[in-house]
Amino acid sequence: MTHRLLTALFAASLILLSGTVGAERPEAPLTDTSSLPALGDGWRDANPYRGDEQIAAVGRTLYNETCSKCHGPDMNAKGHPAPPLRRLQRYCKKVQDAALKARCLADVDHYFVTTVLKGKYILGVEHMPAWDGILKQEAVWAIKTYVDSRSR
Ligand code: HEC
Repeated sequence: MTHRLLTALFAASLILLSGTVGAERPEAPLTDTSSLPALGDGWRDANPYRGDEQIAAVGRTLYNETCSKCHGPDMNAKGHPAPPLRRLQRYCKKVQDAALKARCLADVDHYFVTTVLKGKYILGVEHMPAWDGILKQEAVWAIKTYVDSRSR
């Protein structure tokens, strides 16, 4: 083997290694999201899929692929480190006034999307990874639709 070839191999293995070390970003899910109605680039203020059961089914697969290892499979958080997502809307459920209720739900939607995109970092420690650039808007709202369908 020539010296040059060895150098090239060494450089290539360094690139591979640094790639592995730097690969802290979560993987994109494999779930087929092509059935989800396209929403374009601008993020919606509130869940455009709310209440759609077919979308919730896609969201369930996405959730189990990307969120369940911390939040529990099928939203069953028992024995898992992250908080249960079933209870996110508990305040809104008590609101009687329809307009106020819609605003309350939109508020939770906003918190949900922001949390998913930015993750949860406390004093620089990652509690939950950021999914910005990994999960598309359609996927995030589908997961939210599933979470809502299981909320208590
Ligand atoms: C590596 C583990 C991990 C993964 C994967 C993960 N989360 Fe989290 N998540 C956490 C932890 C831990 C918290 C609590 C952070 C805190 O408040 O300190 C959290 C908090 C949240 C919250 C806020 C809950 C509340 O009660 O305030 C939401 C919403 C959330 N996660 C949604 C998701 C969704 C949706 C996914 C999948 C796309 C996901 N998470 C994937 C660990 C994770």
